[in-house]
Amino acid sequence: MKSFKAFVVNKTEADFSAEIKQLNESDLPEGDVTIRVVYSSVNYKDGLASIPDGKIVRTYPFVPGIDLAGTVVSSTDASFRKGDEVIVTSYELGVSHYGGFSQYARVPKEWVVPLPDGLTMKEAMAFGTAGFTAALSVQRLEESGVTPDKGPILVLGATGGVGSLATSILVKNGYDVIASTGKESEHDYLKKLGVKEILSREDLLPEKIRPLDKQRWAGAIDPVGGKALAYALSTIKYGGAVAVCGLAGGTNVPTTVHPFILRGVNLLGIDSVYCPMEVRQKLWKRMANELKPTNLLEDIGNEVTLDELPDILSNILKGKIKGRNIVKL
Ligand SMILES: NC(=O)c1ccc[n+]([C@@H]2O[C@H](COP(=O)([O-])OP(=O)(O)OC[C@H]3O[C@@H](n4cnc5c(N)ncnc54)[C@H](OP(=O)(O)O)[C@@H]3O)[C@@H](O)[C@H]2O)c1
Repeated sequence: MKSFKAFVVNKTEADFSAEIKQLNESDLPEGDVTIRVVYSSVNYKDGLASIPDGKIVRTYPFVPGIDLAGTVVSSTDASFRKGDEVIVTSYELGVSHYGGFSQYARVPKEWVVPLPDGLTMKEAMAFGTAGFTAALSVQRLEESGVTPDKGPILVLGATGGVGSLATSILVKNGYDVIASTGKESEHDYLKKLGVKEILSREDLLPEKIRPLDKQRWAGAIDPVGGKALAYALSTIKYGGAVAVCGLAGGTNVPTTVHPFILRGVNLLGIDSVYCPMEVRQKLWKRMANELKPTNLLEDIGNEVTLDELPDILSNILKGKIKGRNIVKL
C-alpha cells in the first residue's frame, strides 16, 4: 500500500484543522480486515465530527466517516478474503476508530457485513447509516402491525438522508406517505419520491400541543424529535406507532402519557449503532431487495469527491442537504 488520501481532523489547545492529507499504512488503526474504500457517505454525525465542538470525536488527529463500502485487501480472519466486497457502518467507525473518509481503512472483523447480492457498493453508500436507520424504522413499524392498509405514514425531515430513504422505502412498499419538510424549494423532489401530501415544518408545530388531537396517521418515522414529535404522538391513530430515530430538531419532547394509555400508541426506539449483527445482516439483504427504492441513485444519491466533502459537511449541519451524498474515494 502506497501512501493514500484521507480527510483528517485535528484539534489542539490552540487550533482546529480539517483537511485532506496523505497517510501511510502505519497510520491505520489495529484491526483484522484491511479494506480499500471505494465509497463512503455523509451523515449528520460526520458533520459534527468535522467541527471543534461536535462532541463526536474522542481523540485527535482523527479520520471521520461513519460509513464505508470497499474491497478487502487483506484479512487475518478466514471469513473474509482478498477481493470480497464489504460494507462497514456503525460501532466505533468514524467516532473513536478511523472512519470511511479515507482511501484505506482497517477494522475489527465483527463490524464487517458482506455486500449482499442485489446491491452495488455505490448503492450501499446511497443508503449508508441514514438508509439503514430508515430501513430499520420501516421494519419496526411493520413488526408493530403498521401495514399499508392501516393508513398513511408521516415522515418528518423528509428531504434529509433518513427522511428521503424512509419516504422512498415506504412508497416502494405500498404505503401512503405524508412528508413534512422545512424546504419549500424541494417540494418537486418529494413529489418525485412519490409522497401523497406535503406539510410544512410549521404544520407540525401548533402553538398548543394537545395531549390528544385528531387521529391522522397510522405511523410516523421521526429523525427530527422535539416538539414535532410530541405533535406526531398526539395525532397517531389508535394502535399506531412512531419510530424515533433522530434529533435534528431538538431533544426535549413535551408530550403526555395520553397517546400511550388511551390510544395504545407505541414509541419505537431506533438505534443503528449497536443493532445486533444478525438483524443487521438480514436487514441489509432486505435493503438489496424489496426495500431498495427504484430511484435510489437517480433521485436520492449524489456522488461527490473528497475535495467537495468540507462544504457538504458544513451544509449538513445547517439542515441544507437534500437526499444522500456518496463520497467517491
Ligand atoms: N438512531 C440512529 O441510529 C441514527 C442513525 C442515523 C441518523 N440519526 C439521526 O437522524 C437525524 C437525521 O440524520 P440525517 O443523516 O438524515 O441528517 P440530514 O440529512 O441533515 O437530515 C435531517 C433533516 O431534518 C430536517 N431538519 C433539520 N433541522 C431541523 C430543525 N431545526 N427542525 C426540524 N427539522 C429539521 C431537515 O429536513 P427538512 O428540511 O426536509 O425538514 C434535514 O434535512 C440526525 O439527528 C441523526 O443524528 C440517528
